[in-house]
Amino acid sequence: MARVAYLECTKCGSGISPEHPQTVCPKDGGVLYARYDLVAIKQSFASASLAGRTPSMWRYAEVMPDAEPVSLGEGFTPMLASKEFPNVFIKDEGLNPTGSFKARGLSAAVTMARAYGLKKLAIPSAGNAGSALAAYAAKAGIEAHIFMPKDVPLANRVECESYGAKVTLVDGLISDCAKMIAERKDKEGWFDVSTLKEPFRVEGKKTMGYEVAEQLGWRLPEGIIYPTGGGVGLIGMWKAFDEMEQLGWIGPERPQMVAVQSSGCAPIPKAWDEGKASADFWSNANTLAAGLRVPKAYGDYLILDILKKSGGVALAVTDDEIMDALRHWAQVEGIFAAPEGAAALAAYRKLHDSLFFESDDTVVLFNTGAGLKYLDIIDRCGGSKKEPPASRQIGGIIGPY
Ligand SMILES: Cc1ncc(COP(=O)(O)O)c(C=O)c1O
Ligand SMILES: [Zn+2]
Repeated sequence: MARVAYLECTKCGSGISPEHPQTVCPKDGGVLYARYDLVAIKQSFASASLAGRTPSMWRYAEVMPDAEPVSLGEGFTPMLASKEFPNVFIKDEGLNPTGSFKARGLSAAVTMARAYGLKKLAIPSAGNAGSALAAYAAKAGIEAHIFMPKDVPLANRVECESYGAKVTLVDGLISDCAKMIAERKDKEGWFDVSTLKEPFRVEGKKTMGYEVAEQLGWRLPEGIIYPTGGGVGLIGMWKAFDEMEQLGWIGPERPQMVAVQSSGCAPIPKAWDEGKASADFWSNANTLAAGLRVPKAYGDYLILDILKKSGGVALAVTDDEIMDALRHWAQVEGIFAAPEGAAALAAYRKLHDSLFFESDDTVVLFNTGAGLKYLDIIDRCGGSKKEPPASRQIGGIIGPY
């Protein structure tokens, strides 16, 4: 594994020592990225050396922080060829431990927390990040304090409690949960592992970028559609592409990155539409895709910058379109997706209809979680039985706000 050379602020470029646990840039609150000596790593780390390695995200050990992994077998999830669209692949993250891609980020963050000797971690969560923290903290023997909206999917609460985490249900959104942790963490001695407020969840999530390249034979797709809440995966994959280019594994080409949100909480598409570099707080956020109910992403400036640099787009889809896509994937592809993941199909439909993506473009859709974690939500909205709507919205790629 690689020694992290330094942590770099994504706003002012300051270098910060990784010797002790760090949160965000002390000068400007910028998100910190772990930086490695890739010139040195390149000498002995060729993509061919991955053959035969463990099928987990830790197969990329040379570009991961140097600590003994707290692992439950996360990553190296299937890249399934779509039956319906010949050049579309579905990266099925629902097969991760705790049923979502959140396992990657929390495996890396808890690994480093244990290496630093931290004893108490706290997280505000829309659901799945809490479940993942609870599992990895249990494995590491660390306390987990989880703050979730009180209407979180049932599976998330039951999982967290089963793993022995301390769960606080909050009458509010993830942003309210974050505030409660910020107010209490110093007194309680908690280290805050909120999205992008420590540097290592990105390191776990970036492995999705390595996997996309490896599973497509070291060729990046033309497009990646990513259901975006805090956006850590999108940010992490972009970081991975830069690292792989520096390692000489890929060239300068990049996929068009697409952020999809629900029209009930669409701060990123709104900011994108308005040409802004950061997003406004979204009031009255409401969507059945719990993980997309993030009214203000801490790394909004990074997400919007990546969309722009990649020639991508942000768009919103409605909850009805999400549920239609969820049923469709289940019935046509045999994939029972999380509502957040199904949003990727709903987005692809629009982008395909509008010719943003053509049929011969290779596009990877991220199913970020397992539908099994949302039985209460899916059943409540009649999702398992209802017929697909007679007409679905075709055309304009930006949904209603
Ligand atoms: C299943 C699922 N998909 C997508 C997201 C959004 O992820 P991120 O906050 O990394 O953008 C979440 C967040 O909770 C989630 O649980
Ligand atoms: Zn800074």
